[in-house]
Amino acid sequence: MVLMNRLKAHWLQILTHGLALLPLALLVWDFTQNQLTADPIREVTLRTGRVALTLLVLSLTCTPIHIVFGFRWPLRVRRLLGLYAFLYAMLHGLTFVGLDYQFDWGLIGEEILQKRFVQMGILTFLILLPLALTSTRGWMKLLGKRWKRLHRLIYLAGLLAVVHFTWAVKADISEPLLYGLVVILLLIVRIPVVRNAVQHLRDRLSGKSRTPEEPGASS
Ligand code: HEM
Repeated sequence: MVLMNRLKAHWLQILTHGLALLPLALLVWDFTQNQLTADPIREVTLRTGRVALTLLVLSLTCTPIHIVFGFRWPLRVRRLLGLYAFLYAMLHGLTFVGLDYQFDWGLIGEEILQKRFVQMGILTFLILLPLALTSTRGWMKLLGKRWKRLHRLIYLAGLLAVVHFTWAVKADISEPLLYGLVVILLLIVRIPVVRNAVQHLRDRLSGKSRTPEEPGASS
């Protein structure tokens, strides 16, 4: 009974854990089945990078969905999605230094100096790192208002990850540009004037009047 109640209360988080871990499970499965193309290390790099970016964008989508539609459920998985984005970004970076360059710091240093997309990837990771480390309730309490300001950097991380992707792909940049467009649209919804206008419109359409202090107005 206790278990059932827990499942009912946390089904969304459980589903998010399951879906976020699925690409990792598939990667491990394909590795054991020798199905990671002729260049398995590159395949792992590309897949983990893709999943990191997708989860990052999904976590950025949570607040705008709340603003536009008024749903509160996306806010319950926002942090989880961000943490999984960080996990995949870490695996992605570890694949680069550990599998691709076997911790040869000299070579890694050269690669960093020569390739701007690698510099951009590292910068993105360095922004995600403090956000992941301070994502707990304890840090939230400790930092107070500064926590929110710090965690707004997630949008910068999203934009820089798109630049990293654009510079990494070399040829067809239509996909990175699509990701970029999505991140910019999500950012626009968060601009206070746009956000207030959207919330007003939503409230008018649903025949509700809003006070500025209404819970969720600032999340
Ligand atoms: C830790 C620092 C990082 C390093 C050293 C790094 C390195 C790389 C490398 C070597 C590639 C493959 C380029 C190629 O062979 O074509 C790549 C691609 C990529 N990375 Fe990163 N990266 C880093 C951080 C990130 C982060 C933080 C994200 C996203 C949140 C990310 C997302 C991607 C994406 C989406 C691709 C392209 C995948 C594709 O073409 O399908 N990377 N990165």
